[in-house]
Amino acid sequence: MNALDIISKTKKSVPLTDEEIRFLVNGFTSGDIPDYQMSAWLMAVCLNGLTESETASLTIAMRDSGDILDLGCIDRITVDKHSTGGVGDKITLISGAIVASCGVAVPKMSGRGLGHTGGTIDKLESIKGYRTNLSFTEFTDIVNQTGFSVISQTGTLCPADKKIYALRNASGTVDSIPLICASIMSKKLAVNADCLLLDVKCGSGAFMKTRRDAEKLASLMEKTAQSAGKKCRAVITDMDSPLGFCIGNSLEVKEAVELLQGKSKGRLYDISIQISADMLELAGIGNITECTELAEKAVSSGSALSVLKETIRLHGGDCSICDDTDKLPKAKYSHTIYAPRDVEILSVNAEKIGMASLLLGAGRITKDEPIDYTAGIVLDFSTGDKISMDAPLMTLYSNCVSDFSETALLAYNAINFKTLTGNVLT
Ligand code: URA
Repeated sequence: MNALDIISKTKKSVPLTDEEIRFLVNGFTSGDIPDYQMSAWLMAVCLNGLTESETASLTIAMRDSGDILDLGCIDRITVDKHSTGGVGDKITLISGAIVASCGVAVPKMSGRGLGHTGGTIDKLESIKGYRTNLSFTEFTDIVNQTGFSVISQTGTLCPADKKIYALRNASGTVDSIPLICASIMSKKLAVNADCLLLDVKCGSGAFMKTRRDAEKLASLMEKTAQSAGKKCRAVITDMDSPLGFCIGNSLEVKEAVELLQGKSKGRLYDISIQISADMLELAGIGNITECTELAEKAVSSGSALSVLKETIRLHGGDCSICDDTDKLPKAKYSHTIYAPRDVEILSVNAEKIGMASLLLGAGRITKDEPIDYTAGIVLDFSTGDKISMDAPLMTLYSNCVSDFSETALLAYNAINFKTLTGNVLT
């Protein structure tokens, strides 16, 4: 077996055997297969795709490149959740607390944000003192106490994905559905919860821009989980516009806490309840109607908020933010954009808002860059709202940017609105 023959087979769309895929993954991870050969193979995959069976083999070989967690010490059924990434997506904070308060454990390893999409670890690190780099024992202890913990992924999990993802970024081979599937699923299978809910985002702010691609990825991930014997469901949710009103790390924690305080309903609440109910149903708690009712009650009774508060406390974070969100760190500078005339909001482009938020300091362009936890954008409207001239449209926040001219223009241009005439506004 050699790498050149394997590249040549994929170049001609001849399916690889399980052994050939394992040879490639193991050889690249150990350094025996050089970057240039792996890049050539990744490009062949990008252009020709992989079969479902090849994708499953690739995923499992990548999973097996590092540790596979043994969550047997957690005394309840475990459910993991993964979002393919979006703008304003704070659902993990909300659904993790809801599901845990309904008796199902949510042990979660998450990543940091990259580009215009955010990451749960950054959001949690915006809470003063919150530690994301706990040992495995500390992690499972917290899960056993509150049902919910989120830590950053350890380096011993899926080293193959770490190396392959870095190469994909440098070789223009990120946008391949089988490679995205293998990258996400190898990490999720290594975490090894009893069941897995996948939230595949679709729209301008997501990896998958079209419904067709989102459906392809969702179906491939479900089939890959099935091949690995994992109970899994994928749902597709909209990411054409940002999720909720807040984009940026501490701003999103504030919005998540306020939702769990019962202060807000709307699209973010509806999707959070839907995802929580799917997680509970997958864990065998009841049918979808029963699970939806349980999830709603967890918010209205305050039990989900109590779980989040105790989880933050056990992670060393300032849990008083769950009683008073004003205690979250705040930006030094802000800038409000007002409606130039009477308008109706037709849509908001999630990717452009995400980019504006990134430029304010809330995100990073390259891995490991520092970020400004207080930076971001708060929208004052929902799609379909009518806004009077001179009423606020949104406010931009930052600790590191005091001249908002560039970011304000980018954020303003993300809004697609129609000018209203006459007495349309009431
Ligand atoms: N997220 C991942 O972890 N991997 C990908 O390839 C894309 C998104």
